[in-house]
Amino acid sequence: MPGYVLEHIDIEVNHRCNLACRHCSAQAVRRKSVNELTADEIKGILSRAKSMGLRKIGLTGGEPLFDVAKLESIAKFCVDDLRIPLHTHTNGTLVTEEMCRSGGVLTLFESVSVTFLGGDAPTHDYMTRTKMSFERAFRGAAMIAEAGLPLTCYFIPTHGTCKGFKELTEKLRDIGVKRIRAMALAPSGRARLIFGETAPLDDEVRQFEEDLLAAGSRLGIHMEAGNCTRLSMSQLAVLAGHEKCMSGLNRVHIDSKGNVFPCTAASGVKELTLGNLRKNGFRLEEIWFKSEMIKLIRMMHEGLLSKCAECDREPKCQFGCTVNACGTMSEAERQVCPLIKHS
Ligand SMILES: C[S@@+](CC[C@H](N)C(=O)[O-])C[C@H]1O[C@@H](n2cnc3c(N)ncnc32)[C@H](O)[C@@H]1O
Ligand code: SF4
Ligand code: SF4
Repeated sequence: MPGYVLEHIDIEVNHRCNLACRHCSAQAVRRKSVNELTADEIKGILSRAKSMGLRKIGLTGGEPLFDVAKLESIAKFCVDDLRIPLHTHTNGTLVTEEMCRSGGVLTLFESVSVTFLGGDAPTHDYMTRTKMSFERAFRGAAMIAEAGLPLTCYFIPTHGTCKGFKELTEKLRDIGVKRIRAMALAPSGRARLIFGETAPLDDEVRQFEEDLLAAGSRLGIHMEAGNCTRLSMSQLAVLAGHEKCMSGLNRVHIDSKGNVFPCTAASGVKELTLGNLRKNGFRLEEIWFKSEMIKLIRMMHEGLLSKCAECDREPKCQFGCTVNACGTMSEAERQVCPLIKHS
């Protein structure tokens, strides 16, 4: 399929994590995973992608800082050899001052995010299933901000956790945070099984958004969100590059075992798997140009799937979200949907 350029890859540099979040799309675990892509395999994938037009890389996980040597080796390769700008996502709990100092691993990134799953320790630690994780994430964010590195704090509201974010915003302002990104919970990975009882109710989302906007303008903090989050929080500023759904159009997400998905939210959504790089000899271009699923997803974006006319979902995936569809559609809708394989 000519015309589609793979510009952006988010890749899980490991599957390991010191936390055990209830909602984790990567289904990260503490122990070493035998199937994890090696640093050399990841470098090979990214080199190949560069010749396909790659110009933006996100190094994620698992927790990237759980294996600093691996993260640093891949990040240096991207910056020094590929010359492609990088961003990373961390839970913040393993950040040290050394990582933030000149020459430290976090200085290799154009943007670093630290996520908060609640406004205070009881709610955040409940979501991470790890004591002290809130305190340590806050300390990590403070070190990154203090060093003047480009930090964005992510807020992920869930049912019952929405209220405290207003107060947290004030505390983050006090340590120098200037950007906050809201992220809607996606029914992927571990969140899929608990999505019904974990997704925030409409009223909670409305209040969360109002609180964020009010705190942002009072405290001078930029509040933003990507396309899929803005489907439920439309007043938040649009994040650059996320004005519309680009799933499978200019990006993919690669998990720690080499499975390829059309976007990060789709990570672990089996219906949307495009292929596995280990199984196909690391031929990324074959997946990008020839995968039947990526062709279907592009047809869906272009409004060419005639079956969608029979689908009850609103908004339909073309203006909504395929990840949300796969995680929440009824059995009757699954029977109609061309994205679902019936074998
Ligand atoms: C998978 S984590 C990996 C990086 C790092 N361990 C962290 O937590 O930031 C990347 C980001 O995705 C978020 N995330 C994980 N599962 C999610 C889900 N089901 N829906 C929305 N965001 C999710 C995390 O909270 C974090 O902000
Ligand atoms: S969301 Fe991040 S911090 Fe939480 S378990 Fe998954 S990888 Fe770990
Ligand atoms: S769920 Fe399937 S049938 Fe419905 S709009 Fe999305 S792609 Fe089309």
